[in-house]
This record gives sequence, structure tokens and C-alpha cells, in this order.
Amino acid sequence: MEKTWWKESIVYQIYPRSFRDSNGDGIGDINGIIEKLDYLKDLGVDVIWLSPVYESPNDDNGYDISDYQKIMNEFGTMEDWEELLAEIHHRGMKLIMDLVVNHSSDEHKWFQESRKSKDNPYRDYYIWRPGKKGKEPNNWKSSFSGSAWEYDENTDEYFLHLFSKKQPDLNWENPKLRQEIYKMMKWWLNKGIDGFRMDVINFISKVPGLPDGPEKPGEKYASGGKLYRDGPRIHEFLQEMNEEVLSKYDVMTVGEMPGVDVEEAKKYTDHRRRELKMVFTFEHMNLDSGKGGKWDLKPLELTDLKENLSKWQTGLHGTGWNSLYWNNHDQPRIVSRFGNDREYRVESAKMLGTFLHMLQGTPYIYQGEEIGMTNVQFDSIEDYEDIEIRNMYYEKVVEGNEDPDKVMESIYVKGRDNARTPFQWNNQPAAGFTTGEPWLKVNPNYKAINAEQAVTDENSIYHHYRKLIQLRKHHPIIVYGDYHLILPEHDKIYAYLRTLENQKLLVITNFSAENVSFDLPENVEFEAKKLIIGNYATEETDNPTNFTLKPYEARVYKGI
Ligand code: NOJ
Repeated sequence: MEKTWWKESIVYQIYPRSFRDSNGDGIGDINGIIEKLDYLKDLGVDVIWLSPVYESPNDDNGYDISDYQKIMNEFGTMEDWEELLAEIHHRGMKLIMDLVVNHSSDEHKWFQESRKSKDNPYRDYYIWRPGKKGKEPNNWKSSFSGSAWEYDENTDEYFLHLFSKKQPDLNWENPKLRQEIYKMMKWWLNKGIDGFRMDVINFISKVPGLPDGPEKPGEKYASGGKLYRDGPRIHEFLQEMNEEVLSKYDVMTVGEMPGVDVEEAKKYTDHRRRELKMVFTFEHMNLDSGKGGKWDLKPLELTDLKENLSKWQTGLHGTGWNSLYWNNHDQPRIVSRFGNDREYRVESAKMLGTFLHMLQGTPYIYQGEEIGMTNVQFDSIEDYEDIEIRNMYYEKVVEGNEDPDKVMESIYVKGRDNARTPFQWNNQPAAGFTTGEPWLKVNPNYKAINAEQAVTDENSIYHHYRKLIQLRKHHPIIVYGDYHLILPEHDKIYAYLRTLENQKLLVITNFSAENVSFDLPENVEFEAKKLIIGNYATEETDNPTNFTLKPYEARVYKGI
């Protein structure tokens, strides 16, 4: 297998709005990030992924971009950004930027032009269609509730928006648009950035003719299902982008791809095909959703997680490359989700981190994960800022008369604002995030859960993550070894073996709040030499092939 820096890196995602506010306006900013770079360096981070910092009216917190080559005023200036890049590089870290080119903001000058007239030169930069029998051109739904089409009186046509109506989809069928995007990408790359995370990049090719989809209640994004993603030209577009832009730089790329499966992911990440380095799958993030979609809550079955992650581990091994993640700005906090944020917060956060960081792939840490930040419960819908939450609440409660308590419960479990509450730096007012009024309320648990506490406590989740990162840097088996699932049927223990040449690692994790006995199956050849990391004090005399795991215990043995 080819060895590369991005396979060996650990990525840390910053959601700038919520990371650190340096000027007291309640909104995180670039200078705030600069202040905290040493914290990230000490953690062991190699690459920083910065969620969008471009000019935006903030309908979707920066994922609606009105100028791809300007910095949002609230976040600072281009000079601040340049200083950030220089300071990151100065510390030996790298920076990848968010590339949001399935759609722009409706306030982008291209769209402003496009909507003016049917013969405007920018008309075909977006996807316009006449209505059908006085209704929308098809039945696709927006990811943020309601139809994916918005009527524009000016030209008596509808434009497509798979997200909010202030995020019109760009028309990748138009070669001129593609050239504009490539030019913009090169402009950033020439400034010295180290790659891109690409927002919903498998949505850029839609099925021609944009046909109606089958009506399936709860289907995520659009009832168009597979019709608006992974379309027939997707690989062609990515290969063109690679040829014209990416191949000219030594960069890492990760494509966010809702709905992608292992077979497609192999194509996207097989280096011989020259498309992307890795993708973000959503499959493991959907295992705790019922048939009704994201808001239809269902407990996670550990055996489903095993089946799914094992498929990805073995499926991409040797051909493509996995990204490993539990959290990002769209997902609830993992310790509240698959762990236990009450009596076993520290143990379960360490277990989940250990489990993920010992897999093959590039691990991503989302801000606050390393200190075990948890989900939040605000009393009122008014305290939530996220457009997805607000629109869903409106559709279900105001228009649909659903039980508001039940809907609030689903927001508590799955809402994106769980991930977006301000970073908890210390136990001072507003958790040391700002001296002003934070744009989104701080999680009230900040007095106990904060970075200052975590850094000073050597048994903290933070120090455990540091250790995990160091282990990966010193043991190539963690990066490059094969993966073998053990005990596939067990509903509480997830154990796997990694092997590389004559080396072995045994990873044993308990996903439950109970004591569970572990017996290494007889057909697994493993002789433990050393416990390299664990989340409980362990006796040297413990027999690693047969013992009782404590609640959320994790152990990793090096062996032969
Ligand atoms: C995925 C991003 O991660 C999410 O935050 C955003 O709302 C949508 N794409 C639309 O850009």
C-alpha cells in the first residue's frame, strides 16, 4: 500500500462560529482560532479542517456562500486568514478549506444575474425549470423541509435548491460554471492551502431530466432519492477537477457524500481513478434512525455497527481509503449518542475515541470531542438557531400539529445545534468562548466540562486523545494494518484485530454500562505482549484473553 502523509494524519475540524471569539461580538472568529493553535498543536493535530469562513448571509452558517474569494466580516479579514495559514504552517500543521460548490448563496453575484432573465449569461449557472401544471417541476424535497424548488416570479420559473431556498444548486452540466469553480480552487491552492473538504460533492451530478422520485416518507434530502446524487456524470466531473486542479498540488481531499455505499466509495477513492483521496460515509451515522429518517429515533444495535464498519474497513482496504469520524458540525455529540454522558461520560468518551482511532483510515476529531462535550437541551425552540431544526419544527409542529414534546425530544437527540454550542474553554462566564453574548447558548455543563480542566487533569479525555494520536504516529500497524472482526454476534463487546506483517494489535471495547466477560475465541491466534492503552487502571497480571470488561472499558493490546 502506498504510504502518504494524509493517511498518517489526524484531522481536527473547526466550526469557526463556535470555536473562539476574540473581539467580544459573541461570534467565533479567525483571530480566536490563531489564539488556540498551540492548544491544537499540543493535542497532536496534523491537519485543520476549517468549516466555511467565506462571505455569506448565514442562512446556513456559512454553507451558503455569496463570495468564494472573500472572508466573512464577522470572522475577520483576508489578512487575518493569511496570518492563520502562516501560523498553522509555522507549527508544522496543514490547513484544508471547505469547498461548498453544489450550491451557492442566492446572494452570490452569479445568482443575482441568473435570476434576472432567461437569456442572462449566468442563467445556466443554476438549475431553472418551468412549473408542471402550475406546480413544482418535480416532487423532490429539500433537506431542510418543504419542496426543493422555489418559484421566481421574475422569469416565471422555478430554481432547484436541495438545501434552503437561499442555497440554489449550481448547474455542473454547464462547462463554464465548472471552469469558474476550478479557477477559484486554484486561487486558494496557490495561497498555499493543503486541500479541501468537499460539501455534499456527490450531489453535483443529478439524473438527467430530473424525474420524480418514489414518495417515501422520511427519505432524507429529497424524495428523489438516488436521482439527485451520484448521477451519471459524477465520476467524470471529479476526474476533470482532478486533472485540471488537484493533480497539480500535493493535497488531501475528502468528499462529503450522503448516501454513498462501499462500492461507490471504492470508485471515488481508488487512487488509480484519480478522483478523491477519501469520502465521508453516512451509513454508520444512520444506524440509530428508523424508517422515518433522521428524526425517527431508534437505539443503536451494536451488531449493526459491526456489520457496517467492518464492510467499510475491509471494502476499501488496499483500494481506497477510509475517513474515520464520530462527530462533525451536523451530528450530535458521540458521547451522548453511542456513549453515556451521565455516570460514564469520561469512560465512554475514551472508549469511543479508542475504538475509532485504532481503525484503518484518517481520523477526524470535531472540536470539543477531545474534552467530551455533550448534547444540550434548550427549553424553547427559540433558543435553537439551526435552519434544519427550525424548518423541521415548523413543518411538524406548526403545520403538521405533531406533539411538540416529541419533536423537541428528537431535537435533543439528533439536532445539529448539539454540536454547535460554543467551545467550552474554561469555567468563566460563557465558558471563556466570548466576553460578549454568545450567538448560541453555551451548554450549562461548562463549569465541569472545559478545556482548562481537561488539560490540567492527566486522566482526562483530552490526555487520552493525545495518547491515541501519539500511538498512531508510532505504530504503523494502526495506519496500515489489516482489520479482522472478532465476536461478530456479541451485542455489547466490539473487538477487532489489526495485523501488519508479523505484528498484531487486539482492540477490545465494551459499548455497554455493564460488566461483560470477554473470551478470546480459540481460532484467534494472539499472544499479548503489552497493554498500550486502556481507560481503567489494569492489573499487570490480568489475562488479556479472558477477563471482565468494566462499563465502557477499552483495552488495546500489542501482541504476536
Ligand atoms: C453539508 C454540511 O455539512 C451542512 O452543514 C450543510 O447544511 C449542508 N451540507 C449544505 O451545505
